[in-house]
Amino acid sequence: MEQLNPHSVLVTGSNRGLGLELVRQLVKKSNPPKWIFATCRDPAGSGAQDLKSLAAEHPQIVIIALDTNDPCSVKDAAAKVTEHLKEAGLNLLVNNAGILKLSTIETETPENMSEVYKTNVIGPMIVSQAFLPLLRKASQKSPQKGMSCSKAAILNVTSECGSMTTLFGWKLNELISYRCSKSALNMLTRCQSMHFAEDEILCITLHPGWVQTDMGNELGTPPLTMEESLRAILKTLGRLSEKDHGTFINWEGNLIPW
Ligand SMILES: NC(=O)c1ccc[n+]([C@@H]2O[C@H](COP(=O)([O-])OP(=O)(O)OC[C@H]3O[C@@H](n4cnc5c(N)ncnc54)[C@H](OP(=O)(O)O)[C@@H]3O)[C@@H](O)[C@H]2O)c1
Repeated sequence: MEQLNPHSVLVTGSNRGLGLELVRQLVKKSNPPKWIFATCRDPAGSGAQDLKSLAAEHPQIVIIALDTNDPCSVKDAAAKVTEHLKEAGLNLLVNNAGILKLSTIETETPENMSEVYKTNVIGPMIVSQAFLPLLRKASQKSPQKGMSCSKAAILNVTSECGSMTTLFGWKLNELISYRCSKSALNMLTRCQSMHFAEDEILCITLHPGWVQTDMGNELGTPPLTMEESLRAILKTLGRLSEKDHGTFINWEGNLIPW
């Protein structure tokens, strides 16, 4: 079976929730990445304490400030990562940071719609642009044929709430801005997959399941723990290849209808 084996991974929003659990499981792998760039908005704040404790035990974890809503912060983070990697590229970029606002079609506001789009769509777009030179470098330097998450990949963390076919969880909450933003993120992923095919940078949009995090708990009682979701996601990431390029999948690697 293929295995996930990147030298370097960058995760946005890694101070809590799924991002933190991803960093935790990556660093505990039998073959952990040499570099795990764990980014968050405020590394000095109390919200990053768990991440800092984890990083204190594992020198592979480099904590870097990155607010996906702030283009200057994104640019600074890319410069710092480039310095750490020296001549190497970045293998796996995980656009995980996201926000959710409860709403209905009657209560949704322009302000919330803009804020959610900014974080959930524009954020992954500018972060992917900023790290593109490093992803291209990783792809070019890799001796591997084809595409994989160990070679060069953009993983956009989406939600099945953004599926126009299933509208997952409609009865729990209409989540207008969140659903629209994740549908748009899915389209961004399709566009990235078209543009980056020649570069052999794998592009995937992945739904982690309904998971027990601060966000997941806002909607009720999620069935999955973070540990279960990320364990399945890491297995799935290890299996992905060019056949999966530009697809919308869940934590177990099953296709979700757009
Ligand atoms: N949990 C679920 O059931 C579920 C289901 C489907 C999809 N997802 C997706 O999975 C991803 C992670 O969700 P989660 O459940 O782990 O949510 P969470 O527990 O609410 O954590 C969200 C993370 O995103 C960060 N973040 C938000 N805005 C940011 C910004 N502008 N810049 C940098 N970081 C920012 C937060 O940082 P702060 O601490 O600074 O706020 C936090 O680290 C999201 O994209 C979400 O849409 C989750």
